[in-house]
Amino acid sequence: MSNPEYRLFQLGSNPSLAEEIASISDIPLAAVDLETFADNEIYERIVDSVRGQDVYVIQGITTPVHDNLMRLMVFIDAARRTSARSINVIIPYFGYARSDRKARSREPIVARLIADLLETQGVKRLMAMDLHTSQVQGFFDIPVDHLLATPVQSHYFYEQGLTGDDVVVVSPDPNSLKMVQNFAKVLNANWAIVDAREEEHGQAKHFQITGTVAGKHAILMDDIIDSGRTMAQASQALADAGATKIDALATHPVLSDHAVERLEAAPLDRVIVTNTIEIPAEKRFDKLVELSVAPLFAEGLRRVINHESMAGMLTSPDNPEISL
Ligand code: R5P
Repeated sequence: MSNPEYRLFQLGSNPSLAEEIASISDIPLAAVDLETFADNEIYERIVDSVRGQDVYVIQGITTPVHDNLMRLMVFIDAARRTSARSINVIIPYFGYARSDRKARSREPIVARLIADLLETQGVKRLMAMDLHTSQVQGFFDIPVDHLLATPVQSHYFYEQGLTGDDVVVVSPDPNSLKMVQNFAKVLNANWAIVDAREEEHGQAKHFQITGTVAGKHAILMDDIIDSGRTMAQASQALADAGATKIDALATHPVLSDHAVERLEAAPLDRVIVTNTIEIPAEKRFDKLVELSVAPLFAEGLRRVINHESMAGMLTSPDNPEISL
């Protein structure tokens, strides 16, 4: 798929995912000189001319969040000043997406701020995966290709034979319920929800489960695992309620704080994540299963470049009847 009309770049937030996308797409990654000065200022220079070309750049807003975001902004500035025809950003993990509304007075909406930064600097298109809420798309006036990890995630469970009535997909809190119900439909499985209540501020939480989990293989599903607290607490509630096996499933392995210790200690059989965020060696542990979403990004990129509809990407190959 080599074509002088466009160039693909990566800025170091997740080199292995970028290399996999480039290799599947058969597009070489173009070179950028990237340096950090002693005072932490960033220097970037696009090595070869991109004048008149469509530029695609892969960069997640992942730890170190502000360095990675600034690297993206500096790159966009360089591409615009050198007369790229268009600048298209591929953000596998859109950090700050949880800051999508004012929950309390005098709070910012940082996801909107980032959308404004990208647009005012001339970005023409965004591709992202499993945004914390799909409404974040509405912060942009440019086209947003919102990919879902579901086709890859559901394929994993189909391969394991984990579908049907013996399986229950569980939302660890009310926020993920819609995603969980969809996933349960794809697996022809049941769904349930763990409702965590704190009777009084600072008191221990009580967990109430709606749906049947006793005797079933539970898949606890969320978009993000950050500190691991949500998954650890919900898995304990499921174990207490008699689930036979418990898997945690999430798209984005932020794994900050003491997440690894929490997940290791929790009654979880597996922690199944994708490679939207690169997991360093010291955060890899026995229960971890990493699924690659590079084929989804490569297919999305192919469709964008060829002006093809993205609709076909919103079904699971194992159960195409269900629209995601
Ligand atoms: C929050 O709304 C998200 O969907 C996740 O539930 C949350 O980010 C998980 O965080 P943690 O792993 O820190 O409990």
